[in-house]
Amino acid sequence: MIFGVDYYPEHWDKSEWKKQARIMRDGNFNTVRIAEFAWCRLEPEEDTFDFSWLDEIIDILAAEGIGVILGTPTAAPPKWLVNKYDVYMRDKYGRQRGYGSRRECCANNSYYIARSKVIVEQLAKRYGKNPNVIAWQIDNEFGCHQSTRCYCEHCGREFAYWLEKKYKSIDRLNKIYGTVFWSQEYSSFDDVILPAYTSCEGDYGKLQAHNPSLEMDFYRFSSDSWVRYQQMQIDIIRKYSDYPITHNMMGHFSDIDYRKLGEPLDITAWDNYIDNQWDCSDFENISMAHELMRGVKNKNFWVMEQQSGPCGWDRFGGTPRPGQLRLWTYQSIAHGCEGLLYFRFRSAPFGMEQYWLGVVDHDGVPRRRYYEIKQTGEELKKLSDIFVGAKNSTDVLLVKSYEEVWCHEIKCHTEGFDYRNTLYSYYRANNHLGTNPVCGGEDMIGGEYKVIYMPAYSMVSAEVEKRLEEYVQNGGTLVLTYLSGTRDVNNNIVTSAIPGRLRKLAGTSVAEFDSSRGDVELGNGFGVSKLWRDILEPETADIRVCYNGEYYKDSAAVTVNTYGKGRVWYVGCDLEESALLKLVKIISDEAGAGYISHPDGTEIIKRSVNGREYFMLLNYMRNAIDMGIRGKSLLSEKCFDGILDGYGVEIIDASK
Ligand code: GLA
Ligand code: ZN
Repeated sequence: MIFGVDYYPEHWDKSEWKKQARIMRDGNFNTVRIAEFAWCRLEPEEDTFDFSWLDEIIDILAAEGIGVILGTPTAAPPKWLVNKYDVYMRDKYGRQRGYGSRRECCANNSYYIARSKVIVEQLAKRYGKNPNVIAWQIDNEFGCHQSTRCYCEHCGREFAYWLEKKYKSIDRLNKIYGTVFWSQEYSSFDDVILPAYTSCEGDYGKLQAHNPSLEMDFYRFSSDSWVRYQQMQIDIIRKYSDYPITHNMMGHFSDIDYRKLGEPLDITAWDNYIDNQWDCSDFENISMAHELMRGVKNKNFWVMEQQSGPCGWDRFGGTPRPGQLRLWTYQSIAHGCEGLLYFRFRSAPFGMEQYWLGVVDHDGVPRRRYYEIKQTGEELKKLSDIFVGAKNSTDVLLVKSYEEVWCHEIKCHTEGFDYRNTLYSYYRANNHLGTNPVCGGEDMIGGEYKVIYMPAYSMVSAEVEKRLEEYVQNGGTLVLTYLSGTRDVNNNIVTSAIPGRLRKLAGTSVAEFDSSRGDVELGNGFGVSKLWRDILEPETADIRVCYNGEYYKDSAAVTVNTYGKGRVWYVGCDLEESALLKLVKIISDEAGAGYISHPDGTEIIKRSVNGREYFMLLNYMRNAIDMGIRGKSLLSEKCFDGILDGYGVEIIDASK
């Protein structure tokens, strides 16, 4: 199993390298990722290359039994490049992104593309068959620092091509967009604008009041631009190398469609920071991020950067408590990680990330964090057989669509609604119950799941409609909510009754909705709705919950429809946490979806590998907890009596 660190040899004097590699080996690390920010050292002047230092460090690492994941360095251009070529992105005000940080280049900029090709080709040629290189990482965190969408001339030109390919004729685009509204009809594809700054900004915060179909296409185009930029690098590497290619994604990040980005990659990877300057995440939030990353290719993944200490940019987040670094490592593994590297090996005394602490401190001396990670590595060495290739058993799929993220961003319907929070609330309820859902895309809709949740899935294509029909027909349970089926794929509102294409499946239609401020009580002890109420008119569906207030008192709020061998729930309103948990339990019980009961603040994940089954037990709380499960520990080989230490981990044999 890959177990390693992210390493920046170019930050240290060569005289340190051997010592550092030895500390790594002693820490049980077998892999490092290097070079993803070293462009200025690899190509110090245009077309002048220096690979001597990289050759040397790869050899030093190899001598300690450490393999290398080689990063292409395109996330941070060297100064000579930006001096000579204008590669900068432009924001919606036409302002140029300045130098001094990173990710300032535009994916459609022809100079940036040309120079990227050169450096990638040089690296691929030189290291494509190097036996000490084990994989490639393309670039670094596409889209971070809000770098997905750019409004420069290059993007303007490429957007016109993109639209032409999609719509063929401008009349068609005009018709679909409805550009007659506010007299915006375009005369050619070149004529179409990028949705930048308009006269409306300021009236409603940052809202520019653009045509929603145009905005949706621009979001799609921007995401596609990075997918294409990545493909350019993949194609070059593939000419010289068969090693696996990955990219380090960012969990919940949603500006780029990760399923499209992941498609051509051999394996998904992502960067996992739990407690940093900006966020101290609930453990369920991290678990969901892992499940999203598993859903990218419906396969296990790597964590390319795992938190190894207190971290932030100008202030620190929390200091990981003893046990937490180990716990977070096992959390990654429990949700499908089968290769993991800590960011970073040694904390940098200089540069922006002085406060992003690594496995060892600025002085390079191994201390508590190093020893905890080393112990974890020791355990993983023994257990790698049960982690690599393991499958998580779950009966539940939660669908996240990237296009839906964009759709709900372009219009967020009502104050307080957030698509991603809505997904998270469904994830959390399932996690609490113990169904441990995977979070994937429409492509995963299918009979292996007993329940599929598609909250607020609004833009329904004919293809998705068909898949859902088939799924339910054959016995699946589908859960829809308010805002489901309200739009077509062009981001226009459907002109049939809501939920549009899903009406037959749902067996209900929406007579009216109410998103007025103020709570409305629900029947059957389901608490109150705060954001949104669909007033339902069941056609073939049964009523499960009614409203208990307002002028629509006694109207249906939640219904369930039998369709073929399956069923479709329609949840017409938002629910409070406890009500959602109650509903998710009813849905699971009625659908026969399995779940593993577990105390609050913990997870129990069931996995299988080569006919062997085991449970991973994780306690996120500071105090010891009775997990209500006993068995033979695969960690200690002793009998586990059910009491799990604070921040503790257990792995129990589940084979009888
Ligand atoms: C990201 C990047 C790293 C580093 C860390 C810490 O995950 O990939 O290069 O910047 O954050 O900020
Ligand atoms: Zn651009």
